[in-house]
Amino acid sequence: MNTSLNRRSFIRNTSVLATTLAMPTILPRNVFGANEKLNIATIGAMGKGQSDTHNVADLHNIVALVDADMNRAEGAAKALQSFYTDRKSDTKVNAKLYTDFRKMFDAQHSGIDAVIVSTPDHTHFPAAMWAVRHKKHVAVQKPMCNYIGEIRSLHKAAKAAGLVTQMGNQGRTMNGQREVKEWIEQGAIGTLKEIRLWTNRPIWPQGPLHKHVAETPQGLDWNSWLGQEVEEPYFTFDNGDHSKPAETTTKKSGRSKNTIAPFNWRGWWAYGSGALGDMGCHIMDATFNVLGRNVPIKIEAESSPVSDLTAPAWSKLIYHFAATDKLPALTVSWHDGSKDGKQNKPERDARVPEEAFSKASSGMMFIGTEATIFEPEAYCSNPQIFSLERRKDVEEMVKSGKIKQTEARSKHAGNPQREWSQGIVEGYAPSSNFDYSAPLTEFVMLGNLAIRSGQAVSWDSKEGRVTNLESANKFVNRPSYRKGWE
Ligand SMILES: NC(=O)c1ccc[n+]([C@@H]2O[C@H](COP(=O)([O-])OP(=O)(O)OC[C@H]3O[C@@H](n4cnc5c(N)ncnc54)[C@H](O)[C@@H]3O)[C@@H](O)[C@H]2O)c1
Repeated sequence: MNTSLNRRSFIRNTSVLATTLAMPTILPRNVFGANEKLNIATIGAMGKGQSDTHNVADLHNIVALVDADMNRAEGAAKALQSFYTDRKSDTKVNAKLYTDFRKMFDAQHSGIDAVIVSTPDHTHFPAAMWAVRHKKHVAVQKPMCNYIGEIRSLHKAAKAAGLVTQMGNQGRTMNGQREVKEWIEQGAIGTLKEIRLWTNRPIWPQGPLHKHVAETPQGLDWNSWLGQEVEEPYFTFDNGDHSKPAETTTKKSGRSKNTIAPFNWRGWWAYGSGALGDMGCHIMDATFNVLGRNVPIKIEAESSPVSDLTAPAWSKLIYHFAATDKLPALTVSWHDGSKDGKQNKPERDARVPEEAFSKASSGMMFIGTEATIFEPEAYCSNPQIFSLERRKDVEEMVKSGKIKQTEARSKHAGNPQREWSQGIVEGYAPSSNFDYSAPLTEFVMLGNLAIRSGQAVSWDSKEGRVTNLESANKFVNRPSYRKGWE
C-alpha cells in the first residue's frame, strides 16, 4: 500500500470538510502525525515568493521552485539553502528548478501536495488553476487575480475540488482587524458612519508610459512570464521623452527603473492592477470584514489620466454600501498616489492627532458617532481609538469583559502561508481562504473597473455585471487567452 498516496487522498477528503467550515471550527488536530510533511512547490520563487517559501520551509519539503527567470530560480534555491544553514539544519535543497509551471506539473505533479503562487498578478490565475486542476492545495499572493471573472472562476474551481486555499494578505491573520470588528460591533465608537482609506502607492512607474521593444534579458523565459497574456516582444518603457531609449541599469535590488520585470509590471493593466490592486487587499481587508464581507453596490471614481494600457498616477474612489441589519448605509473612500505634488490623502478626522496622521503613508480611519479608530499602516496591525478618553473607556470595557472576543484568533498571525500549510495538515480553513478572499478581491477590483470606465458603476454582485453602463462590462473579464494557457 502506498502510504504517501493514502495521505494525499486523506488530505483531500479532510479539506473538503475544512473549506466548508469557517473558523473557528477546528477539526481534530491529531489527524496527521506531528512530523507529517507536505511536498510544496513555489511558482514565482524569487521576490515575494522567497519569503512565502521560507514561511513554510522549516516544516515542509520544498520539492520544486519555478521562476520564469532561471537566474532567479537559481537565486531562490541558494536563498533556501542559506535559510536551512542559518537555522543550523542539515537539510539540503533538492527542489527541481523550472521556468514554466506547466512543465513542472507535467513532470512532478504526482509528488506535490500543495502549491504557493507568488508570480506577478496576471499569472496568479493560470498558475493557481493549473494547481487546482491537478488537485493541489493552493496559496495565492494578493490580489487573488486581477480580473473579476478570473477571481470567480478560480474560487468556483477550487471549491468544487475541495482544496484548502489561502490568499497572501497577511493582515487577515493578525489580531488588529479582529479587534476593530469587535470594538465596532460592540459599540466602542458609537455608530459607524464612514471609512477613509489611503496609500502612498504607486512607488513604481504608473500613469502614461510608452513601450520600447528590447532584447529579452539572458535567463528570462519571456513566454512563460507573459503566461495567458497577448504575445509581444519583451519591452522596456519610459514615462516622458519617447525619443530616448529607456534607462535600464539594474540596481543592487535586481530592479531597474524602466524594465517591466521584476516588480515594475504593477502599473500595467495586463499584468498588474495599479496602486489599488497592489494595496487594496491589505488596506480594504479590515473594512471588508467589518462591513460583513459584503460587496459594494456602487463605486464612484476620479483619477489622473488612465489608458487601456496603464493605471493612473492617482485615484480617488467612493464605494457605496447598502444598509444591513447591523450597519447603516455608508461610504468607504480610497485615495492613492500623489496629486499636485502632495500625497493624495483623505481629510483627517478631527479626533485623530495631526502628527500621527501626517506620518501615516498608508492607513485607515473608521469614523463613528462617538470615536474614531485610526490605523497608521496597511495591515491593521496596530489600530488605535481616538479620543484618548474614549480609548481608556474601551480598554476598561475589554478588561471587564463588556467588550468580548468574538473573532477567532489565528495561531499563525503574520504568516498566511504557514496558516495555510497547517490548515492542510490539521484540517481547518485558513482565515483568507477563497470564500473570504474572492469577494474581498472583487471589492478591490470593482474600483479598477470604475477607474477604467471613467464613470460611476453600479454592480449586481449576483449576476457579476455592471448594470448602469454596458461598456464597463468589458473590464470584468480578461479580453483574451493565449493558446496553451487557457
Ligand atoms: N503580501 C505582501 O505583502 C506582498 C508583498 C509583495 C508582493 N506581493 C505579491 O506577490 C506577487 C509577486 O510580487 P513581487 O514583488 O515579488 O514581483 P517580482 O516581479 O519582483 O517577482 C515575481 C517573481 O516571479 C517570477 N515570475 C514571473 N512570471 C512567472 C511565471 N509565469 N512563472 C513563474 N515565475 C514567474 C519572476 O521572474 C520573479 O522572480 C504579486 O502578486 C504581489 O502583489 C505581496
